[in-house]
Amino acid sequence: MRLGVLTAGGDCPGLNAAIRAVVRRASVTYGDDIIGFRHGWQGLVENDTLPLDVVTCRGTLPRGGTILATSRLNPFKSATGPERMSATIESEHIDALIVIGGEGSLHIAREVSDLGMPVIGIPKTIDNDVNATDSTIGFDTAVQIAVDAIDRLYTTSESHNRVIVCEVMGRQAGWIAVYAGLAGGAAVILAPEEPFDIEQTCAHLVHRRATGRIGSVIVIAEGAKPCAGTIVLPPPEMDHFDRERFGGISAVVAREIEARTGFESRVTILGHLQRGGTPTAFDRLLATRFGVASVDAAHDGDFGSMVALHGQEIERVTLAAAIDELKHVPRDLIDRVAVIFTE
Ligand code: F6P
Repeated sequence: MRLGVLTAGGDCPGLNAAIRAVVRRASVTYGDDIIGFRHGWQGLVENDTLPLDVVTCRGTLPRGGTILATSRLNPFKSATGPERMSATIESEHIDALIVIGGEGSLHIAREVSDLGMPVIGIPKTIDNDVNATDSTIGFDTAVQIAVDAIDRLYTTSESHNRVIVCEVMGRQAGWIAVYAGLAGGAAVILAPEEPFDIEQTCAHLVHRRATGRIGSVIVIAEGAKPCAGTIVLPPPEMDHFDRERFGGISAVVAREIEARTGFESRVTILGHLQRGGTPTAFDRLLATRFGVASVDAAHDGDFGSMVALHGQEIERVTLAAAIDELKHVPRDLIDRVAVIFTE
């Protein structure tokens, strides 16, 4: 077979581990040829390729970023995008295209698959919001980075008896906030799944201080929203791809806390630190297992599918199931978090 592989959307730790596994499984086990398309879907539209083999991928397992580069380009936004992708698939004699993408890129993968191109998906995103898989590549690393940050923020917050509001990524789902907040012992966790009540947050901080706790770290997802009518937010800014540009809710919350409680407050936005650098062992393994399974799916002719983690097993689901809805933090986990914070 001749395989194509691309990474699309925001990068995350573990992409190179996945590419490396695809290349090794395909060339060593099956004797396939593999080419990479550069800069996400743009590489497929423009036939911008990088030949891949075991030697090219050597040493990439622990490296962050993606050797193929990535972009947020949506090929369906241009009238000629779909036909140019088809032309590349034909001229490059691609028998299977492996797309390593998050929720947006997997939507595109589904559309490409519906046009008859032989696509298989691998889920990646630090946000962990892709449906039908227990985890996505990059999520574990992002959580670990956030936990390390919370540990550090706690020591300085305690020295000064301050509130520190730590903002993590998570546009519509609060996976990083909830996991890192729980693992880091955050005083309060604010996630997009449930509008937050600033009065309740302040009351909890006051209670903590009254009962002898010094220092508090609040973890807030970038996409968290206050209850209607409680805090006035600045109008949202849009990026080049017409998506809301997040990053800043923590400053609004810290100001409110200071004004309502008188507690000195500071802000830390972790931002792209969560997306850069070396993947954890978990993400390296997950990426490797996904990469191997995606090549096996190609050889089974199981196109229109995505490899997924279910418990300890790697299984296949349809791309349709993967994009059916966003995977949110379940209600019962949020309820359990709420219980932890009522002491
Ligand atoms: O890839 C998902 C994500 O990390 C979101 O959590 C975040 O809002 C977004 O990417 C930032 O994207 P960009 O790097 O394009 O600004």
